[in-house]
Amino acid sequence: MIKSIFCEMAGIEYPIIQGAMAWIADSSLAAAVSNAGGLGIIAGANAPVDYIRDEIRKTKQLTDKPFGVNIMLLSDNAEEIAKMVCEEGVKVVTTGAGNPGKYVEMWKSHGIKVIPVVASVALAKRMERSGVDAVIAEGCESGGHVGELTTMTLVPQVVDAVSIPVIAAGGVGDGRGIAAAFMLGAVGVQVGTRFLVADECTVHENYKEKVIKAKDIDSVVTGRPTGHPVRVLRNKLTRQFQILEKEGAEVDKYEELGRGALPKAVKDGDINMGSIMAGQIAGLVCKKQNCKDMIKEMFTQADKTLEKVNSL
Ligand SMILES: Cc1cc2nc3c(=O)[nH]c(=O)nc-3n(C[C@H](O)[C@H](O)[C@H](O)COP(=O)(O)O)c2cc1C
Repeated sequence: MIKSIFCEMAGIEYPIIQGAMAWIADSSLAAAVSNAGGLGIIAGANAPVDYIRDEIRKTKQLTDKPFGVNIMLLSDNAEEIAKMVCEEGVKVVTTGAGNPGKYVEMWKSHGIKVIPVVASVALAKRMERSGVDAVIAEGCESGGHVGELTTMTLVPQVVDAVSIPVIAAGGVGDGRGIAAAFMLGAVGVQVGTRFLVADECTVHENYKEKVIKAKDIDSVVTGRPTGHPVRVLRNKLTRQFQILEKEGAEVDKYEELGRGALPKAVKDGDINMGSIMAGQIAGLVCKKQNCKDMIKEMFTQADKTLEKVNSL
């Protein structure tokens, strides 16, 4: 079974992180992934601090395994959440949307492993200098907010540029993806889209069905003119975003159209006007499973894939 230094670093069995998913990755999913031997992550997103604190406490009741919290640095209460995770004894922090440099010393002094998501070599190097433990190199195949580079091109360049462990994210949906990530020099993977359809994922059933039915070409990137492009599955909402792009609309028009669109899909199951964040690998995701079976299946396939490569 594939093991790596990341397993030791995070105290986990399989080198896999369940990617944070705003409005979705709660105690139910995070605890299930951690109990299955991966690293579960609670998404902080724009949620109130007390809600996240409760989710941390619920996760502790559901598992005695390590888990983490993701902090979106653009959110208004990022600083408050950054302090709260120290009080709650969280073991791992991942970050999205920016540079967490100013919090690293505080987190390290509380024994927290810090693993930022990066979309470029430059940010990976800056993060290494600020003392983080590892980086997650995320390619633009991924669901949610995306950068420009693909996982195939980003991961080996980040691996060459830093000496801390690199986790690959974006487009990993099965054991072949895991094997490929290791071939590129990663020591672990972060998976979001496939976990959307896990039994323990509390996202609306309509959202899960949309992911399961998605074909290879069913995701699009919207919102490029706002400077915050997002990969989502095509629907009525994405068509309206595309009209705004053609018209050269002002940024506030995008904000108006996108306001509240993620919870609309996640909580209400509105798959027409809700934002269905998911990655290009959705086309490969075809069945619901519990986290334990999902992770075991992925790593069994990864082992077989690597054996096959060795015998070529
Ligand atoms: C619905 C959804 C919401 C996401 N929200 C966040 C988030 O709040 N913070 C973050 O750092 N990444 C977020 N991501 C990215 C994931 O954590 C992960 O890196 C990504 O899904 C991996 O690529 P994949 O979708 O191809 O598996 C989100 C992804 C999805 C699909």
